[in-house]
Order: sequence, then C-alpha cells, then structure tokens
Amino acid sequence: MPLVTSTEMFKKAYDGGYAIGAFNVNNMEIVQGITEACREEHAPVILQVSKGARAYANHTYLVKLVEAAVAECPEIPVVLHLDHGPDFETCKSCIDGGFTSVMIDASSKPFAENIEITRKVVEYAHDHGVVVEAELGTLAGVEDEVKVSAEDSSYTHPEEVEEFVSKTGCDSLAIAIGTSHGAYKFTAAQCTRNEKGILVPPPLRFDVLEEVSKRLPGFPIVLHGSSSVPQNYVKMINEHGGKMPDAVGIPEEQLRKAATLSVCKINIDSDLRLAMTGTIRQFFDEHPDKFDPREYLKPARANIKELVRHKLVDVLGCAGKA
Ligand code: G3H
Ligand code: 13P
Ligand code: ZN
Repeated sequence: MPLVTSTEMFKKAYDGGYAIGAFNVNNMEIVQGITEACREEHAPVILQVSKGARAYANHTYLVKLVEAAVAECPEIPVVLHLDHGPDFETCKSCIDGGFTSVMIDASSKPFAENIEITRKVVEYAHDHGVVVEAELGTLAGVEDEVKVSAEDSSYTHPEEVEEFVSKTGCDSLAIAIGTSHGAYKFTAAQCTRNEKGILVPPPLRFDVLEEVSKRLPGFPIVLHGSSSVPQNYVKMINEHGGKMPDAVGIPEEQLRKAATLSVCKINIDSDLRLAMTGTIRQFFDEHPDKFDPREYLKPARANIKELVRHKLVDVLGCAGKA
C-alpha cells in the first residue's frame, strides 16, 4: 500500500489500547532494520525524519529510502513524518515533498504564538491531505541542536489543551509528562539508585496525562523522548572504548502503561543509536583488521531490527495490528 497518514492508525491504537512506534531514520540500515521488524511482526509504523536528518542525508534520499521500504513491505501501513518541524517553511517543504504527516514544534514560543504558527501549518497541511502533530509543554534534553535544561523544561498545563486543539485544528498533540530527549535524560541528582546501583528516574506524571485525556476524549496523544536507554547497549559501548556514564532512560513498563491510555505515538530514536553504536564498537574491537562497512553495518542493522521487534511486542503493543 502507498504511504498513509496516521489518522486510521491512531483511531485503532486509541481504541485498542496500544501505541504506534515512531522511529527516526537517517540512513538505509536504520530504515531496513525498523521496517523488517515491523513487516515480520505485522506492525504499523511511523518513520520520522528530523531537520538534522534532512541536513545529513538530504530530503530526496530519505524519501526514496522510505519509498523503497514501502515497496518491500506492501502489507504494513507506513507513515512518513517530519519530526520537530521548526517553522512553516520546513513543514511546507515536507508536505510538498511527499510526507504524509508533519510536526510543527512551536512549543518554546508563547501560547498564542504557538497557536498561530500551528494553525497556519494545519491549514496548509489539511489542504494537501497531510496530518499535523503539535506540542504543548517543553521537554528537557537536546533536539535539533537546541538544548533545554531540566530547569527550563515544563510539564504541559492540562487547562490549556482544549483551547489549543480547538483553535489550531491539529490532529495529535505531544505533551510533556517527564520524558526527555537523548541518552542522558536525567542527572544523577534527579534519580535514586536501585540495589544494583542503576539510576532510577522520577516516574512519569500520569496525573497530567490523565487530566489531558479527560479534557480531550478520543484525541491521540504523543510522547517524545521515550527511549529507555537499554543498559546492555550502554555496557557494550563502555566495554568497547566508549564513555557513557549514568546514561538512563524511561522505564519500559511506564511506556507500556502510557500506550494503554490515550498515548497513540511513542517516539524512539536514541535507543536505536545506542544499538548501532554499541554493535559497531564491539565489532571493531573484536575485528581490528576488518574495514568493509558492510561487515560492521550488517550486525548493527540486525540489532536495530531485534530492538525494534522488542519495542513492538513488549512496549508498544502494536505487533499484529497492521
Ligand atoms: O528529538 C529528536 C530526535 O531524536 C532527532 O534527533 O535532531 O539529532 O536528528 P536529531
Ligand atoms: P529519544 O531521544 O528518547 O529517543 O526521543 C526521540 C524523540 O522524541 C524524537 O522526536
Ligand atoms: Zn522529540
């Protein structure tokens, strides 16, 4: 089937108590690892492209890679989504250039300005059959070179969501309930340590999510910054020349719970980067004589695929829903 919008996907996910995985893509091996897992698990998927990905790989290359995946996996629905669109022009370029979904992220702007920018994107997108994700509240972490400190982040104010959604006409809403971008989501000071000495982050604010859902019945909610920072890959990186102390993510049980509520889209990027980097570091350490990129990218792609499979089956609950 051709690329689809997320409208149908989100409706089924909301009613079925699961979430769709939104995975960032930057090159062929990442696209292949994700979509092979989704095809084998019969899972719908959102492939998302950031401003940084477009700058790295070029818009056309990424669209063509995604089109190739669609041709290889005709039985699963695939959305091509712009992640963290910074302005109207970038959203327009993606809408004109074959994307079926865009995010306008004006969450750092004052409320009225966020509404104004989002509404302009929605008007253009809807005229072209494309859906729009918007954001209210600010996540900590780094996204597209913008670093937001934990002090400057803020949870979404539930009392703002009805006005925001009705005035903008957006199709889904990303909210801030304590997730955060990147592999260093929390400082050691924000966490406690469990009996194994592993950092345990503060729990997500399910009270905020529940209040938002009550005010927007049936409306799809999105969680960004939802990597869980698998400790096996952090360990693999650290054992093979890397240095990632105290990298910690969102516990998977909390994401599973969010997926059963109104959260229909869960964004995962850093976990795939960790799998790729750990695998390649280990390969180089064990095979210092090898230099063929296909030899080290092959196990990296295989590990991305297995990690995505785990997310589909054990975290998102979307396996078998294509
Ligand atoms: O939220 C940001 C995504 O992880 C994309 O990251 O801007 O480095 O491509 P990026
Ligand atoms: P992570 O850094 O937690 O993978 O978040 C990715 C994300 O939100 C992309 O928009
Ligand atoms: Zn994000």
